[in-house]
Amino acid sequence: MNKVLVTGGAGFIGSHLCERLLKLGHDVLCVDNFYTGSKANLLALIGQPFFELMRHDVTFPLYVEVDQIYNLACPASPVHYQFDPVQTTKTSVHGAINMLGLAKRLKATILQASTSEVYGDPEVHPQQESYWGRVNPIGPRACYDEGKRCAETLFFDYYRQHNLRIKVARIFNTYGPRMHPNDGRVVSNFIVQALRGEDITLYGDGSQTRSFCYVDDLVEALVRLMATPAEVTGPVNLGNTGEFTIRQLAEAVLRLTGAKSKLIFKPLPQDDPKQRQPDIALARSTLGWEPEVKLEDGLRETIAYFRKVL
Ligand SMILES: NC(=O)c1ccc[n+]([C@@H]2O[C@H](COP(=O)([O-])OP(=O)(O)OC[C@H]3O[C@@H](n4cnc5c(N)ncnc54)[C@H](O)[C@@H]3O)[C@@H](O)[C@H]2O)c1
Repeated sequence: MNKVLVTGGAGFIGSHLCERLLKLGHDVLCVDNFYTGSKANLLALIGQPFFELMRHDVTFPLYVEVDQIYNLACPASPVHYQFDPVQTTKTSVHGAINMLGLAKRLKATILQASTSEVYGDPEVHPQQESYWGRVNPIGPRACYDEGKRCAETLFFDYYRQHNLRIKVARIFNTYGPRMHPNDGRVVSNFIVQALRGEDITLYGDGSQTRSFCYVDDLVEALVRLMATPAEVTGPVNLGNTGEFTIRQLAEAVLRLTGAKSKLIFKPLPQDDPKQRQPDIALARSTLGWEPEVKLEDGLRETIAYFRKVL
């Protein structure tokens, strides 16, 4: 049994990760300031003897004793990370410094939840880990993209300078139960609009593509990455390679919910990438991992969740 710290553990991905770690027999400490996460996401875990929940903001130092750290704290959707962009950068950068400092003191392995957004609006498709990205450093998404890029820099400097055991995961679009209903992300948006019988809003002409990874698949990859030998640092892309246009996604949601909503089109937001697909060859070879959940199956679970919470 390991003592495992999950920052951002009350969020969408974090809550599934805590659940998985408990099932694997670990002692889990979940740290969250409830900025976008909530206790509701952890109702099934609160009260379990090997689960502990602590309200804390990672921009402040944390003194606890653990063997492994998963650093997930950071609002992930544009509506939330752009609401207070300075705090977003602080969470990524100061949060990384604080968690890396903690890992250094404890000689713990630390995993960073980085993002495909480090590739910005890429000139190459699909993106391999060796691609350096094309990020606008002064745009409205920069607080998140550059914050995450700086966190990666810090991880690799701690690795080179202090021999810290690091793992950097570049997560692509992930979806599933416990996504925030109002976070403006495409999967939750479409499902919520369909279930409320509202029109479904597409930005641009809906031909931009995304690939969507179901949360259980992603959590499996994070756990496998943490278990890799010390020389495996990443960055490693994690996502699903099945590429769909936003329009196809909207149509799947309509089909699975049985909603009669109309599709309506609005202008594309600034710096919105036109295509986003992971190259997961590295994850396949180093983790022996492959996403297994089909989009339709994952959407069914997610729709069932939103039916309950709405
Ligand atoms: N969901 C995705 O598709 C996706 C894609 C790429 C990367 N990621 C990364 O994965 C991680 C989790 O994302 P998510 O989708 O679960 O988002 P989320 O917003 O549901 O979870 C983030 C959690 O971090 C907490 N948090 C925010 N600021 C904090 C702070 N200063 N101190 C402590 N806790 C804080 C929030 O309250 C929330 O519980 C994030 O780091 C995100 O950048 C997610």
